[in-house]
Amino acid sequence: MIDALVLEFDRALRVLAGTPRAARPSPAAGVAEGELDGAARAHAAALMRVNHVGEVCAQALYQGQALTARDQAARGSLARAAREEEDHLAWSGDRIRELGGRPSLLNPLWYAGSLAMGVAAGALGDRWNLAFLAETERQVEAHLAGHLESLPPDDRRTRAVVEAMRADEAKHRDTAIALGAAEFPEPARRAMRFAAKVMTTVAYRL
Ligand SMILES: [Fe+2]
Ligand SMILES: [Fe+2]
Repeated sequence: MIDALVLEFDRALRVLAGTPRAARPSPAAGVAEGELDGAARAHAAALMRVNHVGEVCAQALYQGQALTARDQAARGSLARAAREEEDHLAWSGDRIRELGGRPSLLNPLWYAGSLAMGVAAGALGDRWNLAFLAETERQVEAHLAGHLESLPPDDRRTRAVVEAMRADEAKHRDTAIALGAAEFPEPARRAMRFAAKVMTTVAYRL
């Protein structure tokens, strides 16, 4: 348990210091930079800041999961998903920098809030923890699909990253469901959509 805590604390520091380790190369590698004017770059950077915040939250949710999960068999698949989230964090952080933007100033706050929610869901038991993960992944996937509509059409590097992330999130949701996620009631989904709306609106600016 102490070992697990030290490991998770180390991960938390890496998340907040902005030095995540990607295990896979960025999907933008080898994709040519598009022709973007200042406004398009700023918009793309702000959208990637929102995605980066989402990935900071994903780190916290998976950490909460790792700290509270009782089912040992589930841990392996969830640890794999968590590693893929760390790739997302690194890829989106790199892309923000390439676009001349910066990550959210409120990352410590997003992280702490998500960790608290993850641990709270974990306290309800594995099925609800997994339900929370599955619903989060579903909403993130829908959100990324929206970004693909909104991103400048020429910004092929950002698009490559967002498309790869979206494919991974769909996999993560399937994993959570396969591991026995409960079905979240509609009011809980609505509350999560509302929280996500606040987060994305603020993170676009800050
Ligand atoms: Fe992700
Ligand atoms: Fe995910």
